Amino acid sequence: MSGHIRITPSILNADFGHLDQEIAKIAPVSDFIHLDVMDNVFVPNFTFDFSSAAKIIAASPIPIDAHLMVANVDSIAIDYAVAGAASVTIHAEATSDISSTLKGIKSHGARAALAVKPGTAIDQYSEFLDDVDMFLIMTVEPGFGGQKFMESMMEKVRITRKIIGSRPIWLQVDGGISLETIEIAVTAGADTFVAGSAVFNAEDPARMVNALRERAISSKLAP
Ligand code: DX5
Ligand code: ZN
Repeated sequence: MSGHIRITPSILNADFGHLDQEIAKIAPVSDFIHLDVMDNVFVPNFTFDFSSAAKIIAASPIPIDAHLMVANVDSIAIDYAVAGAASVTIHAEATSDISSTLKGIKSHGARAALAVKPGTAIDQYSEFLDDVDMFLIMTVEPGFGGQKFMESMMEKVRITRKIIGSRPIWLQVDGGISLETIEIAVTAGADTFVAGSAVFNAEDPARMVNALRERAISSKLAP
């Protein structure tokens, strides 16, 4: 299991009118900024079109983890790598050629990640272990921040951790992560954590990011 814990806060619940300042608050203590791209087709919500997302990527002081919740993702995923995203996540439910899209993302200099919605099993994707740098197990139905953590997804996290074995593949969870739920997710085998509302609803977002990391590390060390 990867020894390192990563906190990748989502800006979905940040103030979109002041994104630069919001990102500046958490950048010094975050591993990546998690950028949720939604097209109002794959999920019933819209956040950024490609050109707005590309501007955020270019302006970010730390690497961007782009989570693409868009239909027909094969046609646009590589553009996010070219635009400078450090990691690009495609949904297994939105692609018709997982291997070539993941390879395309990597060949353009970004880490390549594969996400599954709560209703999608992970076992069928173990054949892509050579192409994937990270698996993303959704712990909410994608589309909105502030939803309740789905503890029922921990079995899928445990299965994913087994599939990864000793490979240096990261295991990210996304949705409802807080000081309470991060412990459950660490115990199940996750090592990379998206938190949106827990961070931006906090009095001090940077302090919350640090608290989430410390909680995750102490949970991992717990017997
Ligand atoms: C939901 C997004 C998540 C969301 C997390 O579709 O993929 O990244 O912003 O927000 P919280 O942490 O509030 O569940
Ligand atoms: Zn996300």
